[in-house]
Amino acid sequence: MSQDSPPVFQVEHVTYAYNNQIALKDISLTIRAGERLAILGANGSGKSTLLKILDALYFPQRGAVRAFGEPLTEAALREDARAFAFRRRVGLVFQDPDAQLFSPTVWDEVTFAPLHLGLPRAEVIERAEWALDLLNITKLRDRAPHRLSGGEKKKVALASVLSLRPEVWLLDEPTASLDPRSQARLLDFIGELTREGKTIITATQDLDIVEEIADRVVMFCEEHEITSDGAPHELLSDYDRLVECNLIHAHRHTHDGTEHVHHHLHPVSHRHAH
Ligand SMILES: Nc1ncnc2c1ncn2[C@@H]1O[C@H](COP(=O)(O)OP(=O)(O)OP(=O)(O)O)[C@@H](O)[C@H]1O
Ligand SMILES: [Mg+2]
Repeated sequence: MSQDSPPVFQVEHVTYAYNNQIALKDISLTIRAGERLAILGANGSGKSTLLKILDALYFPQRGAVRAFGEPLTEAALREDARAFAFRRRVGLVFQDPDAQLFSPTVWDEVTFAPLHLGLPRAEVIERAEWALDLLNITKLRDRAPHRLSGGEKKKVALASVLSLRPEVWLLDEPTASLDPRSQARLLDFIGELTREGKTIITATQDLDIVEEIADRVVMFCEEHEITSDGAPHELLSDYDRLVECNLIHAHRHTHDGTEHVHHHLHPVSHRHAH
């Protein structure tokens, strides 16, 4: 990725509110092809809303978004050809898989988007089988998605985008509720996408994975506003700022009978030496 890569998304002064509930306040952000961006922020800061706007599920009340140089508006996507082209290029894995899954079986779920978007059937079958295998859920193939466990649902939601193989990946808390092996496989896969030069935009609170999946970090700190933008090591080493933005927290616990308080990366496992 270089500064000369074409912009994938240009977000200009975007404000979004759900009825009267403000979610994004005057956000401006350019994301270029091949960039790997992590979006950090406390609960309710606006990460998922921003991803849904990039996926054209919501449209901002103020400001504008361009995707691949063209305005990303409701009117533009009313044209089938443009909507299909956009949906083939951009895939979102929802934070809440219940909001994403709708098919009667896992297999239908994983093959629906690519078939609907006109990819050749044989290729779709091959990719879907590969995606189920990568996430170790081949055995769930004929199950109903809404009757699966939370982690299983998340894997199906991921597999349905894996089978589409878009050029722009929007991942909303992708490792949340995955077991360690599945997390590792997903991170390896993100590494593969990186080598293929894909654009990967990840909302996460898992600070442990940020340096592996991103070259750039934007952070919501003030209410619903992006106030930091920089390299992962810069932002992650600014300890006071991370505390201020609610991304790490003081944690009280007991060792050898003595209670003390120290900070942890939030909300990751308690991996520290004493
Ligand atoms: N459907 C909705 N209706 C009303 N308000 C909403 C809705 N979805 C989100 N919000 C509000 O919009 C704001 C931003 O929410 P969003 O889901 O984008 O945050 P987030 O950063 O993804 O949080 P989390 O870390 O909990 O996933 C919050 O104040 C939230 O309460
Ligand atoms: Mg969210």
